[in-house]
Formats: sequence, structure tokens, C-alpha cells
Amino acid sequence: MKIAVLPGDGIGPEIVAEAVKVLEALRREGLPLALEQAPIGGAGYDACGDPLPEATLRLAASADAVLLGAVGGLQYDLLPRPQRPEQGLLRIRKGLGVFANLRPALVYPELAAASALKPEVVSGLDILIVRELTGDIYFGQPKGIRNNAKGEREGFDTMLYSESEIRRIAHVAFKAAAKRGGKLCSVDKANVLETSQLWREVVTAVGREYPRVELSHMYVDNAAMQLVRAPRQFDVVVTGNMFGDILSDEASMLTGSIGMLPSASLDAGSKGLYEPIHGSAPDIAGKGVANPLATILSAAMMLRYSFAQEKTAARVEGAVRKVLAQGLRTVDIHEPGSRQVSTREMGDAVVAAL
Ligand code: IPM
Ligand code: MG
Repeated sequence: MKIAVLPGDGIGPEIVAEAVKVLEALRREGLPLALEQAPIGGAGYDACGDPLPEATLRLAASADAVLLGAVGGLQYDLLPRPQRPEQGLLRIRKGLGVFANLRPALVYPELAAASALKPEVVSGLDILIVRELTGDIYFGQPKGIRNNAKGEREGFDTMLYSESEIRRIAHVAFKAAAKRGGKLCSVDKANVLETSQLWREVVTAVGREYPRVELSHMYVDNAAMQLVRAPRQFDVVVTGNMFGDILSDEASMLTGSIGMLPSASLDAGSKGLYEPIHGSAPDIAGKGVANPLATILSAAMMLRYSFAQEKTAARVEGAVRKVLAQGLRTVDIHEPGSRQVSTREMGDAVVAAL
């Protein structure tokens, strides 16, 4: 079980270190894990002048799974786009072909009060956002900044999805829904966008192969509203790269903190890239206060999806629940009466609970 570990920037190294602690504990128990580290993002740029150094992509491609922290930092924001940390992330996703991004949003009973919404609106919430990750306006060509006929600069991007790209993510989403609550909501902007019209047609056609899954369609603006109005109406949500990026950040706030949400990005087989959905949080980097639970939960998803270790994955998730039940909280989920702990203390507590 070869894992490429890519800590990245900002709080990335701190939170990844805690997930590695958990994996090391499992290795000591006999799980045949082999971890190897490499730089990505700003760290890749600093080391090799490239946010995705060739050796990093090679390591990731040869590994069975990739554990990633986060990328980005203010000091890189003025670099030309190809050198920016985010490009390292987009290129590794594309390079590994991990098109299916699973972003579960789960409200732990202990954290219902930490949500920005009333506890009665979010308690028991369990939704899965399936975000297409290697297409859409993120990757569509052409894109750029050019001079128009009036001599004024204009920026442009291309929103683009092929039928096969839509079909394969739809299958992932229907399969996930069949295993869960049997409901799938496809989110698009078919009232305005051609891309979305094709999206809706293809998802509907794929749906005929899954008669037991109840399919609905929703415009993205309405979905953004429904997520805060009545989030429990959703079971699985499938959507494109751009809408999924936005809606998954929104969904994270239902759970209390963006520091709690893991993700798995899967290819057509069992290869996966696992990362928290949050960013590199440069403002708190190096302070030892970041919440490592999203990354630890991402490692649990890795055990489940890449290594078929369902029991061990559930144990890690159980350990996270246990530390929350013990009242341990990093600052992002801290509330009166709970015990505020550092990044490291949280990781140690999860290992102990394991
Ligand atoms: C995410 C992030 C990335 C994205 C950025 C850092 C490129 O926001 O994983 O959601 O937009 O996909
Ligand atoms: Mg995002």
C-alpha cells in the first residue's frame, strides 16, 4: 500500500503530519503501508521552480494513493499563472485522471451547535457532494486575456463538458446514491448554459440504468439556497467542477467548520487523491491551531476506497467521533465547555482513541 504524501503549503504540513501519525499507528499494527513524501504547490515551486515537479507527479503516479494537504500562499499570488501553487493541484488531478471528487458533509451530533445554522436544521445531516473534477470551466480551452476589437482587454474561459465526461461522473453518483439513501440531485444551470443542457440530458439518460435511484434536477442558484434552507432534503448531489467547488464550501459550513470535511478524488479504478476540502489558510499557518480532522478523515477515505479496508476506515472515523465526544476541539470548532487543543494534541488524541 504505497502512499505518496504531499503536504504542500501553509497549514498543509501540520495537518498532514497528524494524518500520517494515524497511518503510522496502523502500520505498527501490521497494515503494510509505505509512505513517501514530495513537494507540491508553493513548496514545489520553491524546491524546483514548478508547482508540480516532475518527480512529484512520478511518485504520485506510481503510488496506490496520494495524501495531500493544501496549496497556496500570498507570496506566490503574483507569479505567472503556470507557476502558481493552484496549478500544481489542478495538474496533479488531471494527470492522475481523478475525475470523481467525493465530498461528504456530515454533521456530528457533538458539533451541531457549531454550525452557522440552527441545530434543528442541520442535526443528522449526511450529504455527499459528487463533484466532477477534471473538466468544466477549470480546464476548457481556449482561455486567456486578450485585446478585443475596441482595444480593451477581456478575460475569457470556456465551460465545456463532453458526453463521456458527464456519463462517467453520473455513473459514480448513481452508484453512490444506490448505496446510500437512493436519492440523487443533479445540479446545473440548464436554464442558461448549453453545457448544462447537455449535462441534464446525459444524466437523465444514465438514470434509466438506475431505476431504483430517484433522480431530481435543480438549478445551482436554487441549490445554493436550498442547502441553507433545508439541507436534509439532499442525499447525493452531483454537479460539475465549478458549481461543486462553490457548493461544497457552502455545505462545509452546515457541519460547523470547513476543517471537518474530507474528500476523495477517484479515477476509474481504485487510485485516489485524498485531501481536505479546505485551503492552506496562510493566516494560521505555523501556529499549531489548524484542525487536522478533515485530513485524518481523508486518510480514512483512502483506507476505504483505495485499499478496501472498510473496517479500519470505520475505526479511524470512530476515533474521530470519540475525541469529539470527549469534548476536544480545535479553535475552529471550539465552544464554551469544550477543551481547546492544538493541531498536534488533536492528532495524538485520535491515535489514542484508535
Ligand atoms: C478545492 C480548491 C481548489 C479548487 C483550488 C485551490 C484550486 O478550492 O479543492 O475546492 O478550486 O478546486
Ligand atoms: Mg474549493
